[in-house]
Amino acid sequence: MNILVVGRGGREHTIAQKLATSSRVKHLYVAPGNAGIQHVAECVDIDEMNIDELVTFAVENKIDLTIVGPEAPLNAGIANRFMRAGLRVFAPTKEAAIIEGSKDYAKSLMKKYDIPTAASATFKDVAEAKAYIEEQGAPIVIKADGLAAGKGVVVAMTKEEAFKAVDDMLVSKAFSDAGAKVVIEEFLEGREFSLMAIVHGEAVYPLVTARDHKRAFDNDLGPNTGGMGAYAPVTDVPKSDLTFAVEEIVKKTAKSLVKEGRSFTGILYAGLMLTEEGPKVIEFNARFGDPETQVILPLLKNDLIQVLDDVLKGKNPGLKFSQEHCLGVVVASSGYPGSYEKGKVLPEININDNQFVIHAGTKQTDEGIVSDGGRVLLVGTKAPTLDKAREQTYETCNVFETDENFFYRKDIGK
Ligand code: AMP
Ligand code: GLY
Repeated sequence: MNILVVGRGGREHTIAQKLATSSRVKHLYVAPGNAGIQHVAECVDIDEMNIDELVTFAVENKIDLTIVGPEAPLNAGIANRFMRAGLRVFAPTKEAAIIEGSKDYAKSLMKKYDIPTAASATFKDVAEAKAYIEEQGAPIVIKADGLAAGKGVVVAMTKEEAFKAVDDMLVSKAFSDAGAKVVIEEFLEGREFSLMAIVHGEAVYPLVTARDHKRAFDNDLGPNTGGMGAYAPVTDVPKSDLTFAVEEIVKKTAKSLVKEGRSFTGILYAGLMLTEEGPKVIEFNARFGDPETQVILPLLKNDLIQVLDDVLKGKNPGLKFSQEHCLGVVVASSGYPGSYEKGKVLPEININDNQFVIHAGTKQTDEGIVSDGGRVLLVGTKAPTLDKAREQTYETCNVFETDENFFYRKDIGK
């Protein structure tokens, strides 16, 4: 098959790397790709939001299957457009991707179908939002309704912080239309984990669990980021809670979407909090998580094309996962998630056979590969134990230790 992957980050590099090992792939294209992806696929210079050109490219190059990484084109209807052009695509329609695109929609779906999540209310009016915060007290969580590149959530420890978040979103329009409505949510305590599943209508095939580390600095301090590292599988979620999460959260959600006329095809990602009352939904994503994918796909034993092809044909793909552990540490530009400089030359990274380097924000120049984003790359290791995976990853990351242009967390998986 000829395959097209849409996206340019670490997640897409991992997907492309996995696809590059498939005997079923004839030609692999990634649009637009990055400096790491170019070594495993042909990068095509089309922006992920340029859906017209992507459709034309797919038709002209006889693409048999397209896989979409990021959320923005999903919400813009890329799957709808590909299907209308008679192209096969492993991605949700915009009607289904709304589960990520509108937190208010996700909340109303969960309320209607009794899917466990934090109590919440949605507001457009500043005074009403503040009255609700006054009544509920802090800590409390304020979320922009729409897509905000992972930046639209404020976990407010005081009422004042919560009021400021409401002002930023509803008055100063910090997220423009994405913040025209805010969801105000009960603060959940517990351990977070990510559960992704391959979904086609009511058919749900869970992947192994993973844990992302979203705060910028060690000990979960500092601002939220796109993710500073991850590991899989998560070992501190009891089996009964995991079964509950699969049955009562992910399968129930897939079924609910079908009932609502929004049948979902693609990766349904549940961000969960294991509370004293059991797992509850923090958020849904309509796509592969980043950086969770970077540590989950290396554990998948199946050929990814076999899996996606089976699922689209209504067959059970028989997912098989390695018993090993996988851990990845993100190396970021100093200053991220605030302002940072680009164009810093990367040092040479020496890795073992069980390790990998995944590019996120990098660019090929005459001087070599340079940084081109906040999260630059991820160093990952697959090993028999989580401790081994962590130790080896950090040994490799050491090359960045004295380089002031970059930083990374020292406590991923601890
Ligand atoms: P999200 O972008 O929705 O995943 O939110 C970013 C992060 O904020 C999550 O990974 C959690 O750590 C935190 N968070 C979101 N909602 C809640 C909540 N209701 N209670 C506690 N923490 C939350
Ligand atoms: N790792 C969280 C996300 O992909 O949104």
